[in-house]
Amino acid sequence: MAESSSDLRPRRWWRSTTTRVLAGVATVAATATVLVAAPGADAAASTLGAAAAQSGRYFGTAIAAGRLGDSAYTTIAAREFNMVTPENEMKPDATEPNQNQFNFSSGDQVYNWAVSHGARVRGHTLAWHAQQPGWMQSMSGSNLRNAMINHIQKVMAHYQGKLAYWDVVNEAFNEDGSRRQSNLQSTGNDWIEVAFRTARAADPSVKLCYNDYNIDNWSYAKTQGVYRMIQDFKSRGVPIDCVGLQAHFTGGSSVPGNFQQTISSFAALGVDVALTEVDVTNANTSQYSALTQACMNVARCVGITVWGVRDSDSWRSSESPLLFDGGGNKKAAYNSVLNALNAGGTTATPTTTPTGPTTTTTTPTGPTTTTTTPGGGSCTATLSAGQSWGDRYNLNVAVSGSSSWTVTMNVPSPERISTTWNINATWPSSQVLVATPNGSGNNWGVTIMTNGNWTWPSVSCSAS
Ligand code: XIL
Repeated sequence: MAESSSDLRPRRWWRSTTTRVLAGVATVAATATVLVAAPGADAAASTLGAAAAQSGRYFGTAIAAGRLGDSAYTTIAAREFNMVTPENEMKPDATEPNQNQFNFSSGDQVYNWAVSHGARVRGHTLAWHAQQPGWMQSMSGSNLRNAMINHIQKVMAHYQGKLAYWDVVNEAFNEDGSRRQSNLQSTGNDWIEVAFRTARAADPSVKLCYNDYNIDNWSYAKTQGVYRMIQDFKSRGVPIDCVGLQAHFTGGSSVPGNFQQTISSFAALGVDVALTEVDVTNANTSQYSALTQACMNVARCVGITVWGVRDSDSWRSSESPLLFDGGGNKKAAYNSVLNALNAGGTTATPTTTPTGPTTTTTTPTGPTTTTTTPGGGSCTATLSAGQSWGDRYNLNVAVSGSSSWTVTMNVPSPERISTTWNINATWPSSQVLVATPNGSGNNWGVTIMTNGNWTWPSVSCSAS
């Protein structure tokens, strides 16, 4: 699967796999009657995962391998959540207990449980000052730098193509917005970008995240510090796809009034945003609904993960911060979250695109639109994610309905289409592609140079 990052040839992985991710959908239409079929748009969903999925988002939880034998726990987890973060099982002390001896048994246990219950997985975490194995804690300098690189390569190789996200680096900032002092930081200020570049090379299919706590308040120095790092990475082409706001509104902190501004500001840098470890002191209902609403209001806020299932499972159980009580009953906060998810919001539009194949199948999200043309044909063009690189991404287009179609693709400036395959292409302008069949069938694609903008193009399909 090795492919040099300068290789512009499109990847045609859909030809060799039957299970593929259809991440995001954009379709539309030209003329006449437009029938809009937005899945689940009018029926309130009864679980968190299903409610979030209506707007293209996920709702996740932290899962502990040690609790998978508890059927009350697994029953709730399987029913409610469609994203899983291993609470401790993919951290460095768990995966590399002795140098260069890897142990994936508990990580795999959580992974296998998740995918066998229809959930995707966020990997957590590859480089962190905490929960390092003993041998790593006593390392420094180039030995530690090389050990970090080796750790990222080996762990990501084990999960290659399987995960939706990886928290590549966790908690690297101080409250004042400067870098946290740690053995990793002492290897040189570039350790974070080295971690991200190593990660992209190790598994180009997974979205790479920076994750931290107390970056919820837009005017807080730490938030600004992390923001500036991501802005810098984006401007220099350091691969980063997402930022995780842990959103631990426990231990004295609460949802700030400008929380949505923080989410939308990060999103505007061109990264996915996720709330990755949510818990709220005493599960305050208005804070839970406010944080859910803030995510729902930002298109690139792709999902919410709560840090455990029942209060008794929480790392801060004395604050009863989760959505289920110790008896597994839904708390008031559960309903406030479910209602906010069901009320809808901006449809999630994830940014940079992971490539398939993966072992999980995700149904297309977002509105599906069918065009009906009087007198006959109709067609639908569906976009799905292909391979992506630091400066460009592939999109696959599947046309259904009529076989004599014309698809018009409008690419937002300053993006440019650099390659097409399996179509006859004409170019009304540098931002507009008109595609018609060239005898290769109805699956085709494009490579788009982002020039800094990762927004997907819009497409419309008309049939003759
Ligand atoms: C916590 C776990 O929940 C505990 O079980 C463990 O003892 C310590 O770590 N930020 C993170 C998480 O990124 O990995 C932490 O998880 C909570 C704070």
